[in-house]
Amino acid sequence: MIISHARTEDLADILALEQAGFEPAEQWSETAWAEELANPDRHVVAQLDLDAHVVGVATFSRVEESADLLRVLVRPDARGRGIGASLVRAGLDWAAAVGAHQMLLEVSPENESAVGLYRRLEFEPISTRRDYYGPGRSALVMMRTLAADDAWAVA
Ligand SMILES: CC(C)(COP(=O)(O)OP(=O)(O)OC[C@H]1O[C@@H](n2cnc3c(N)ncnc32)[C@H](O)[C@@H]1OP(=O)(O)O)[C@@H](O)C(=O)NCCC(=O)NCCS
Repeated sequence: MIISHARTEDLADILALEQAGFEPAEQWSETAWAEELANPDRHVVAQLDLDAHVVGVATFSRVEESADLLRVLVRPDARGRGIGASLVRAGLDWAAAVGAHQMLLEVSPENESAVGLYRRLEFEPISTRRDYYGPGRSALVMMRTLAADDAWAVA
Protein backbone atom coordinates (compact mmCIF):
# COMPACT_ATOMS: atom_id res chain seq x y z
CA MET A 1 0.00 0.00 0.00
CA ILE A 2 1.16 3.52 -0.72
CA ILE A 3 0.53 6.99 0.68
CA SER A 4 -0.22 9.67 -1.87
CA HIS A 5 -1.85 13.06 -2.14
CA ALA A 6 -5.63 12.64 -1.99
CA ARG A 7 -7.52 13.73 -5.11
CA THR A 8 -11.06 14.83 -5.82
CA GLU A 9 -11.60 11.37 -7.36
CA ASP A 10 -11.11 9.95 -3.85
CA LEU A 11 -14.11 11.84 -2.46
CA ALA A 12 -16.57 8.93 -2.57
CA ASP A 13 -14.13 6.62 -0.76
CA ILE A 14 -13.43 9.30 1.85
CA LEU A 15 -17.14 9.85 2.50
CA ALA A 16 -17.56 6.09 3.01
CA LEU A 17 -14.76 6.24 5.61
CA GLU A 18 -16.52 9.15 7.35
CA GLN A 19 -19.75 7.15 7.57
CA ALA A 20 -17.93 4.10 8.90
CA GLY A 21 -15.77 6.08 11.31
CA PHE A 22 -17.98 8.68 12.94
CA GLU A 23 -21.47 9.16 14.32
CA PRO A 24 -23.63 11.20 11.91
CA ALA A 25 -23.33 14.39 13.98
CA GLU A 26 -19.54 14.15 13.88
CA GLN A 27 -19.14 13.38 10.18
CA TRP A 28 -17.63 15.91 7.80
CA SER A 29 -19.96 16.58 4.88
CA GLU A 30 -19.30 16.01 1.20
CA THR A 31 -18.97 19.79 0.81
CA ALA A 32 -16.47 20.02 3.63
CA TRP A 33 -14.29 17.27 2.16
CA ALA A 34 -14.60 18.65 -1.38
CA GLU A 35 -13.36 22.01 -0.09
CA GLU A 36 -10.58 20.30 1.81
CA LEU A 37 -9.38 18.47 -1.30
CA ALA A 38 -9.53 21.64 -3.41
CA ASN A 39 -7.82 23.90 -0.86
CA PRO A 40 -4.19 24.54 -1.83
CA ASP A 41 -3.42 25.42 1.79
CA ARG A 42 -4.23 21.90 2.92
CA HIS A 43 -2.07 18.81 2.78
CA VAL A 44 -4.39 15.82 2.35
CA VAL A 45 -2.81 12.37 2.26
CA ALA A 46 -4.46 9.04 1.55
CA GLN A 47 -3.38 5.46 1.92
CA LEU A 48 -4.59 3.40 -1.01
CA ASP A 49 -5.07 -0.33 -1.28
CA LEU A 50 -4.02 -2.39 -4.29
CA ASP A 51 -7.28 -1.48 -6.06
CA ALA A 52 -6.52 2.23 -5.56
CA HIS A 53 -9.30 2.63 -3.01
CA VAL A 54 -8.71 4.84 0.01
CA VAL A 55 -8.29 2.92 3.28
CA GLY A 56 -7.13 5.90 5.30
CA VAL A 57 -6.97 9.66 4.96
CA ALA A 58 -5.58 12.60 6.92
CA THR A 59 -5.59 16.34 6.38
CA PHE A 60 -3.27 19.01 7.72
CA SER A 61 -2.89 22.77 7.57
CA ARG A 62 -0.10 25.19 8.40
CA VAL A 63 -0.02 28.84 9.37
CA GLU A 64 3.50 30.16 9.66
CA GLU A 65 5.38 28.02 12.21
CA SER A 66 2.41 26.02 13.43
CA ALA A 67 0.74 23.09 11.68
CA ASP A 68 -2.57 21.44 12.59
CA LEU A 69 -3.73 17.88 12.24
CA LEU A 70 -7.37 18.42 11.24
CA ARG A 71 -8.60 14.87 10.62
CA VAL A 72 -7.31 11.31 10.42
CA LEU A 73 -9.42 8.26 9.82
CA VAL A 74 -8.86 4.68 8.78
CA ARG A 75 -11.37 2.16 7.43
CA PRO A 76 -12.49 -0.02 10.35
CA ASP A 77 -11.30 -3.30 8.81
CA ALA A 78 -7.83 -1.80 8.20
CA ARG A 79 -7.20 -0.43 11.69
CA GLY A 80 -4.43 -1.63 13.97
CA ARG A 81 -1.94 -2.12 11.13
CA GLY A 82 -0.03 1.14 11.35
CA ILE A 83 -1.95 3.05 8.68
CA GLY A 84 -3.06 5.87 11.00
CA ALA A 85 0.51 6.27 12.24
CA SER A 86 1.87 6.33 8.67
CA LEU A 87 -0.61 9.03 7.66
CA VAL A 88 0.22 11.24 10.64
CA ARG A 89 3.95 10.70 10.06
CA ALA A 90 3.45 11.83 6.45
CA GLY A 91 1.86 15.02 7.79
CA LEU A 92 4.68 15.55 10.27
CA ASP A 93 7.21 15.16 7.46
CA TRP A 94 5.33 17.66 5.30
CA ALA A 95 4.90 20.17 8.13
CA ALA A 96 8.60 20.10 8.99
CA ALA A 97 9.54 20.42 5.32
CA VAL A 98 7.37 23.52 4.85
CA GLY A 99 8.85 25.21 7.91
CA ALA A 100 6.50 24.44 10.79
CA HIS A 101 8.07 24.01 14.21
CA GLN A 102 5.12 22.32 15.90
CA MET A 103 1.92 20.44 15.17
CA LEU A 104 -1.26 20.90 17.18
CA LEU A 105 -4.52 18.94 17.31
CA GLU A 106 -7.74 18.70 19.26
CA VAL A 107 -9.13 15.33 20.30
CA SER A 108 -11.90 14.06 22.52
CA PRO A 109 -10.29 12.54 25.62
CA GLU A 110 -12.80 9.68 25.24
CA ASN A 111 -11.42 8.75 21.82
CA GLU A 112 -8.97 6.15 23.13
CA SER A 113 -7.68 4.99 19.74
CA ALA A 114 -6.93 8.53 18.58
CA VAL A 115 -5.33 9.59 21.88
CA GLY A 116 -3.29 6.35 21.79
CA LEU A 117 -2.18 7.09 18.24
CA TYR A 118 -1.13 10.64 19.08
CA ARG A 119 0.72 9.62 22.24
CA ARG A 120 2.51 6.90 20.26
CA LEU A 121 3.71 9.63 17.89
CA GLU A 122 4.92 11.76 20.83
CA PHE A 123 2.15 14.34 20.94
CA GLU A 124 1.73 15.70 24.48
CA PRO A 125 -1.42 17.17 26.04
CA ILE A 126 -0.96 20.91 26.59
CA SER A 127 -4.43 22.24 27.45
CA THR A 128 -8.18 21.65 27.40
CA ARG A 129 -10.81 23.50 25.34
CA ARG A 130 -14.07 23.52 27.23
CA ASP A 131 -17.28 22.86 25.27
CA TYR A 132 -15.28 22.40 22.05
CA TYR A 133 -17.52 19.54 20.87
CA GLY A 134 -20.70 21.02 22.38
CA PRO A 135 -21.92 21.80 25.90
CA GLY A 136 -19.98 19.76 28.45
CA ARG A 137 -17.79 18.10 25.81
CA SER A 138 -14.23 19.30 26.10
CA ALA A 139 -11.33 18.72 23.75
CA LEU A 140 -7.81 17.86 24.73
CA VAL A 141 -5.26 19.98 22.86
CA MET A 142 -2.09 18.05 22.03
CA MET A 143 1.18 19.27 20.56
CA ARG A 144 4.28 17.76 19.06
CA THR A 145 7.46 19.67 18.41
CA LEU A 146 8.90 19.10 14.93
CA ALA A 147 12.56 18.28 14.57
CA ALA A 148 14.66 18.89 11.49
CA ASP A 149 14.81 15.14 10.85
CA ASP A 150 11.00 14.97 10.61
CA ALA A 151 11.39 16.45 7.14
CA TRP A 152 13.34 13.61 5.53
CA ALA A 153 10.66 12.03 3.38
CA VAL A 154 8.59 14.71 1.72
CA ALA A 155 7.76 14.46 -1.94
C1 LIG B 1 -7.57 6.72 15.36
C2 LIG B 1 -7.34 5.88 14.12
C3 LIG B 1 -7.08 6.81 12.95
C4 LIG B 1 -6.08 5.00 14.35
O1 LIG B 1 -5.75 4.38 13.10
P1 LIG B 1 -5.01 2.95 13.03
O2 LIG B 1 -4.56 2.75 11.65
O3 LIG B 1 -5.85 1.89 13.64
O4 LIG B 1 -3.76 3.21 14.01
P2 LIG B 1 -2.36 2.46 13.96
O5 LIG B 1 -2.55 1.01 13.62
O6 LIG B 1 -1.42 3.23 13.10
O7 LIG B 1 -1.89 2.56 15.46
C5 LIG B 1 -0.80 3.39 15.85
C6 LIG B 1 -0.80 3.49 17.37
O8 LIG B 1 -2.00 4.10 17.82
C7 LIG B 1 -2.41 3.52 19.06
N1 LIG B 1 -3.72 2.89 18.90
C8 LIG B 1 -4.30 2.51 17.74
N2 LIG B 1 -5.51 1.99 18.01
C9 LIG B 1 -5.69 2.05 19.33
C10 LIG B 1 -6.74 1.67 20.23
N3 LIG B 1 -7.88 1.12 19.77
N4 LIG B 1 -6.58 1.90 21.55
C11 LIG B 1 -5.43 2.47 22.02
N5 LIG B 1 -4.40 2.84 21.23
C12 LIG B 1 -4.53 2.63 19.92
C13 LIG B 1 -1.34 2.49 19.42
O9 LIG B 1 -0.36 3.13 20.24
C14 LIG B 1 -0.73 2.16 18.08
O10 LIG B 1 0.60 1.78 18.15
P3 LIG B 1 1.00 0.22 18.33
O11 LIG B 1 0.34 -0.52 17.20
O12 LIG B 1 2.48 0.22 18.22
O13 LIG B 1 0.47 -0.19 19.65
C15 LIG B 1 -8.54 4.94 13.84
O14 LIG B 1 -8.87 4.23 15.01
C16 LIG B 1 -9.79 5.65 13.34
O15 LIG B 1 -9.96 5.87 12.14
N6 LIG B 1 -10.72 6.05 14.27
C17 LIG B 1 -11.97 6.73 13.86
C18 LIG B 1 -11.72 8.15 13.40
C19 LIG B 1 -11.16 9.01 14.51
O16 LIG B 1 -11.61 8.99 15.64
N7 LIG B 1 -10.12 9.81 14.14
C20 LIG B 1 -9.44 10.71 15.08
C21 LIG B 1 -10.12 12.02 15.23
S1 LIG B 1 -10.17 12.95 13.72
